[in-house]
Amino acid sequence: MTLFMNFSFNHSCVLITGASAGLGAEFARQLAPHAATLILVARRRERLEKLADDLQKKYPELHVYLQVCDLTSIDEREKLVAWVREEELPLNFVINNAGLGNLGEFHDASWQRIQGILDLNIGALTHLTHLLLPILRKQAPSALLQVGSIVGFFPIEGHAVYAASKAYVQSFTQALHLEEEKHGVHVILLAPGAVPTEFFKVASRLQEPISLTSRSPACFITSPEKVVAVALEAVVKKRAIVIPNKLLSIVVQFLRFAPIFLFQKVFLKNKKR
Ligand SMILES: NC(=O)c1ccc[n+]([C@@H]2O[C@H](COP(=O)([O-])OP(=O)(O)OC[C@H]3O[C@@H](n4cnc5c(N)ncnc54)[C@H](OP(=O)(O)O)[C@@H]3O)[C@@H](O)[C@H]2O)c1
Repeated sequence: MTLFMNFSFNHSCVLITGASAGLGAEFARQLAPHAATLILVARRRERLEKLADDLQKKYPELHVYLQVCDLTSIDEREKLVAWVREEELPLNFVINNAGLGNLGEFHDASWQRIQGILDLNIGALTHLTHLLLPILRKQAPSALLQVGSIVGFFPIEGHAVYAASKAYVQSFTQALHLEEEKHGVHVILLAPGAVPTEFFKVASRLQEPISLTSRSPACFITSPEKVVAVALEAVVKKRAIVIPNKLLSIVVQFLRFAPIFLFQKVFLKNKKR
């Protein structure tokens, strides 16, 4: 059996999907002081450029590459990985973070949005993992962080497709964790509860802004800074799953063995939209 040294963020080469906002941008900010290279992936170029400028001003040694890419497109995913291979980037940390939700009942959701969730949360995450694992194995010790959600632990009324997509991420990631450890690739699931990002605005079918406290008890809401800090610590500690809120983590462990209606009562206030 091959023994691998521990993975470290120092001088790492990191690819982050969904880096133009929320958790993805925060991963970039917290990794920038340690990493040698960041590859920031999303569709909104201006957002990526602004983030890259800020990081390069603060950390002149850091290499930041932007890849404007619609990850729901198979062609664009393949082009992205072809570019990583051509540049011979020593990628040793991948964060599959880009994700999309949809608040409201399944029957009147637009098919376009449902398709988007399946293509991004499941299709892109699985395809990128498949394309990038050979590089991660070559660069071992390395790490792969898949962003799921606590809703992946339960079927959720009013979040049917999103929660099911995150259940897929959870199951897939746990299996990969077992498969890849012996190859020196540490695979970890990040399962946050509610986080104040643009997620709910994008996921909403309504025009008016969504208040996070109307969707989740305040004690379960965690800042993006805390989510990312706890997640990165869990990568170093080689955890398989991280729920970045202690109270939430305890409640989730308990509710996993409780009837589903109890979960709905604890977590969901305005579950219809
Ligand atoms: N916020 C929460 O409460 C919460 C809770 C649990 C789990 N999560 C998970 O955390 C992850 C990050 O979410 P967030 O809260 O940071 O949401 P966010 O602020 O809405 O950010 C989503 C990111 O995904 C990117 N993205 C969306 N569609 C894309 C596409 N087709 N191709 C490429 N990139 C795309 C967006 O960039 P562009 O629009 O520029 O492409 C953006 O950078 C997601 O997987 C989400 O499911 C969030």
